[in-house]
Amino acid sequence: MAAASILVVDDEQLIRWSLTSRLADEGYRVFEAETAAEALKRAREGVDLVLLDYRLPDSDGLAVLKQIKENDPDTLVILLTAYSSVKTAVEAMRHGAYHYVNKPFDLDEIVLLVEKALETTALRREVRALRASQAQPYGLDRIVGDDESMAAMRALLKKIAAGPGSTVLLTGESGTGKDLAAKVLHYASQRATKPFMNITCSALPETLLESELFGHERGAFTGADRQKRGLIEMADGGTVFLDEIGEMVPLLQAKLLRFLEEKAFKRVGGSADIHVDVRVVAATNRDLEEEVKKGRFRSDLYYRLNVVPITLPPLRQRLKDIPQLVNFYVDQYNSEFRKRITRVTPAAMARLQAYGWPGNVRELRNAVERAMLLTEGDELAPEHFPLGPGSSSPGDAVELPATGLHLERWERSFVQQALERSGWNQTKAAALLGLNRDQIRYRIEKFKLERPA
Ligand SMILES: Nc1ncnc2c1ncn2[C@@H]1O[C@H](COP(=O)(O)OP(=O)(O)O)[C@@H](O)[C@H]1O
Ligand SMILES: [Mg+2]
Repeated sequence: MAAASILVVDDEQLIRWSLTSRLADEGYRVFEAETAAEALKRAREGVDLVLLDYRLPDSDGLAVLKQIKENDPDTLVILLTAYSSVKTAVEAMRHGAYHYVNKPFDLDEIVLLVEKALETTALRREVRALRASQAQPYGLDRIVGDDESMAAMRALLKKIAAGPGSTVLLTGESGTGKDLAAKVLHYASQRATKPFMNITCSALPETLLESELFGHERGAFTGADRQKRGLIEMADGGTVFLDEIGEMVPLLQAKLLRFLEEKAFKRVGGSADIHVDVRVVAATNRDLEEEVKKGRFRSDLYYRLNVVPITLPPLRQRLKDIPQLVNFYVDQYNSEFRKRITRVTPAAMARLQAYGWPGNVRELRNAVERAMLLTEGDELAPEHFPLGPGSSSPGDAVELPATGLHLERWERSFVQQALERSGWNQTKAAALLGLNRDQIRYRIEKFKLERPA
């Protein structure tokens, strides 16, 4: 690791010299600046720690401190003051100084302080690197699928991620990838190194949810024996993901609205406004517009959340993505379970593509997981996927998807499934489909279906 860099800022040459030579002896890379202007110029080029004289010819240390911190919040600043004024010290700490030292100082004391301060940077950088490496599983390509809807979603997420922090509303059935989209968005954005906080609005009773979100002051309610920061506060700089927003009670809807409009909130039982910078991503499997009409969801909050709406299509509307998704999960579970599935048979794939997937990608993932746990061989065949009736319930309840479907492909798949289910007994298969034997024979020929060896 390269030696840490230290910038010594003081207008007195003797002080600069004594600090510089001692710190250089300790193995640091040391730079000097005589004025605030010089100091800022050097700090902008990147430096780990600044020893900053409070009194400079062209500015005061506090102003320089603020600018250094603004430029790079990770730069550590130790302030050197000639008079031990508590007020100055407090002010300095408030603006992010790591510490302050009174002049005349003891060089050994400075060396120790610098060493300790730099340890915290190293630690902070480690955490950051760790967060960044954890971020990788949520790259944009983690959203699998070539369907236009998926490509459009990736492009949209990328665009939103590049922006500062507009609110996003994700709508879609359970299992369509709302959680995934929220994480991908967070990790594709500048906010990636800051927290991603996640809460399911339906999981907690109202009062608990409020204090989880906004925090509370000591004594705010019975049992609040100390102050607690809420998720929104802890997510500062990052993203808050509010899942199942449609279940939020009206009182909290009002509080959330205020927060979205003013970027400020009060802790429960508190009177001070707390300002934070977070991106709010909300998700719901309900039709919020419908909820608004029914008077269950505030229309003003709906409009405030709906700045960037993203609708995730159900899996049955993008059946052509199934092979890609299946292969993605086969790869994943191959490495997780140390299996070697090399092939998913065309008949199995056809079966998966003919099913309605009411539980969407989550259900598909579970089906692949179960199949892989159960199979001993190296391929997945139709019998490894005992799927439920899905969307094709008895009667004429199969609903034509909004995007339409390829009738012949479905017909082929149905005939294939009927044959598999009846063990290639043509009479039984025909009965399952409401056909006679001639009709099913005709289709077996037409689709070139073959009984597996
Ligand atoms: N397009 C996709 N590509 C890959 N995996 C997906 C996709 N959509 C959903 N998943 C996976 O399916 C599962 C359910 O997704 P999730 O985001 O939890 O859905 P939701 O929050 O909408 O209920 C997760 O394991 C998720 O990683
Ligand atoms: Mg979810």
